[in-house]
Amino acid sequence: MQNNKVAIFDTTLRDGEQVPGCKLDTTQKLVIAERLDYMGVDIIEAGFPVSSPGDFSSVQAIAKIVKNATVCGLTRAVENDIKVAAEALKNAVKPRIHTGIGTSDSHIKFKFNSSQDEVLRRAKAAVSYAKNFVDDVEFYAEDAGRTDNEFLAKVCEEVIKSGATVLNIPDTTGYCLPNEYGDKIKYLKENVKGIEKAVISCHCHNDLGLATANSIAGVMNGARQIECTINGIGERAGNTALEEVVMILKQHPYLGLDTNINTQLLYDTSHMVRDKMGMIVQPNKAVVGDNAFAHSSGIHQDGVIKNRETYEIMNPADVGVSESSIVLTARSGRAALAYRAKNIGYELTKVQLDAAYGIFLQFADRQKEIIDEDIHQIMKEVNKYSKVNIA
Ligand code: KIV
Ligand code: ZN
Repeated sequence: MQNNKVAIFDTTLRDGEQVPGCKLDTTQKLVIAERLDYMGVDIIEAGFPVSSPGDFSSVQAIAKIVKNATVCGLTRAVENDIKVAAEALKNAVKPRIHTGIGTSDSHIKFKFNSSQDEVLRRAKAAVSYAKNFVDDVEFYAEDAGRTDNEFLAKVCEEVIKSGATVLNIPDTTGYCLPNEYGDKIKYLKENVKGIEKAVISCHCHNDLGLATANSIAGVMNGARQIECTINGIGERAGNTALEEVVMILKQHPYLGLDTNINTQLLYDTSHMVRDKMGMIVQPNKAVVGDNAFAHSSGIHQDGVIKNRETYEIMNPADVGVSESSIVLTARSGRAALAYRAKNIGYELTKVQLDAAYGIFLQFADRQKEIIDEDIHQIMKEVNKYSKVNIA
């Protein structure tokens, strides 16, 4: 990877699929994996092979069909998990084992009833064992967001010595502030011996709505992989949304960072995942929500009709949305009504527009939105006074 490239690691089929109600069968996972590969995702986390026979066969099937991306399987720092993952990945063109262990005081004390020394030993052993099966081994320091930086740096240094190619620094609980998370990545860049041999990865959860901001802070401080999901689905409040980080890097070229994603497939892929998982996308969701390019207030509509850039910082076509929409409500002005009427064939004079607008407001006060059908009705009313030109 060039140094300005940020690798996109998609975990829709692992962290995303863990969500209650989002369970997919192997056929559905294959369709999504093929789309992610086609869209330019660099690494597809296909599942957690030891977790169930179904997950094992899905990872195996995905490993067989993916042509370009690295296919990754999750494990705990447990030999049997790693052996099973290696078996599931054996037909992948580019296999990666993703192993790791909790490193925060809270995980060490409450999850493992263990010590930092023992966790460090298990981390090194897991990476060394995984190296017997694949070259590409990613290590995750679970709850790195709340792990003391000095201990985290020590763990990173040791797992690099054991052969880790990627260091995943998860903010598992979504607790960090962007500057804190960015500083953590910077600290690792500056204090881990051998760091140049590994790629640092951001894996952020959205408990406080900061997953995207934290991932961007991470890459601004030297990380070169972002772990994310389509529509931001994932445990609790979700993971970093793929479409958001990709478009942030595209819309801010001065950051000098880029991805391999074909952004024009984002909207369609979002719908594909929504439909297969049955997980709705909120209308105001950034980049792919139904309202992301819809304008409804009169002032905004007037601006957008004159020049799209007045109220849009992205071209909808860049994410696969055909055009911005002008939604007619009681807050819309004459410019929006004239624009929508023209779109369906009515060329209005100033006098006709004034008449139409009065009738429009009566309609709009009665209903939430005015659709094309209503505009035809409004034109019939206007026609009673003066014939409207059909363009
Ligand atoms: O959030 C997290 O820490 C994870 C790890 C298992 C990578 O999903
Ligand atoms: Zn996670």
